[in-house]
Amino acid sequence: METRILPANKAGLDEAGQVLLAGGLVAFPTETVYGLGGLASRAESIHAIFAVKGRPTTDPLILHLLEPDLEKAVTEGWVAGPLPASAISLAEHFWPGPLTLILPRGPKTRLDMTAGLETVAVRCPAHPAAQKLLQKVGAPLAAPSANRFGRISPTDAEAVRQELGGRIPLIVDGGHCSVGLESTVVSLLNSTPEILRPGAVTAAQIERVLGSTPLLRTMSRPKDDAQIAPGQLDSHYSPQTPLYLCETPVRDFDPEFFHILFRKNSGAPPQTSLFLAEDGNLESAARELYRGLRQADQSGRKAIMVEPVPDGPWADALRDRLTRASVGLAHWNGTSWKLVSRKRN
Ligand code: TXA
Ligand code: MG
Repeated sequence: METRILPANKAGLDEAGQVLLAGGLVAFPTETVYGLGGLASRAESIHAIFAVKGRPTTDPLILHLLEPDLEKAVTEGWVAGPLPASAISLAEHFWPGPLTLILPRGPKTRLDMTAGLETVAVRCPAHPAAQKLLQKVGAPLAAPSANRFGRISPTDAEAVRQELGGRIPLIVDGGHCSVGLESTVVSLLNSTPEILRPGAVTAAQIERVLGSTPLLRTMSRPKDDAQIAPGQLDSHYSPQTPLYLCETPVRDFDPEFFHILFRKNSGAPPQTSLFLAEDGNLESAARELYRGLRQADQSGRKAIMVEPVPDGPWADALRDRLTRASVGLAHWNGTSWKLVSRKRN
């Protein structure tokens, strides 16, 4: 199948809307990462999403809504009421935006989309192209990140082409994503909100809105519990080159490795290193991380070495993705880097 990349203008979005309404799939930009969209109400679209990504059917998809109105989603049957007050407050504060809420599934939400769960992940994206596309289609879209299963999420149209070229007819090009990491996923199924995937909306921001501290449930989990949020699988977001987390800031560069840094370092060799931000600004680093990992992966080096994530509001999300992308730790013994692989479960 030929994959065309069209700009996110009226003609491009019109065509994307037609493909979606006919049951086909389209990759489109959101503020977080590119999504692989299909009609949430159509069995063939849902099945195609799993097939194209190579994603296990036990890993549920996110429902993308045009309007930041949860009551309407309940009335329309996507989400089951009554809504907890926490859901209404979080949607009011953070939608449209990079926050996904886990709530009870309404009758209209297909069980194949939720991987058989009686819960549904919902989000209202802020990217204007995503909103225009949802408007054209006039119905919610199911959309996971537009990468092959277990690989790095794409943050521009070219990265989508590298992941899914030849498998989908159309990519809507809306430039580079402004957030660069997947949305924060918060479960509101229990009285205490639980962060299942950290992201741009931080625990501190959620706490400020709700007045209570959310639990963080992103540690690696036993296999039989994997369905709580299968994105919590130990290994995820992975480049093909083995990635190691450095235990200390990097001062010594080995040309066999590709080094990823959080701030500019004048000693770093430009061919085999990359800084994600000039000054350690984590918001900029998050935006650049996946592009940086793709570049590192394509550098042909033996391993990718990432220096420790500095503290800051985005640190939880960055550490979470990097830990999942990693195969182990790198330790500087005074003369060389020692690579210690973590045991996989
Ligand atoms: O930023 C994002 O959320 C992007 C853009 C495209 O919207 N989408 C995205 O989708 O990251 P995906 O499928 O790559 O990740 C969805 C995550 C997975 O970890 C999945 O397991 C979790 O949300 N999830 C979905 N439904 C769930 C449910 N009912 N309960 C728990 N976790 C759920
Ligand atoms: Mg994903």
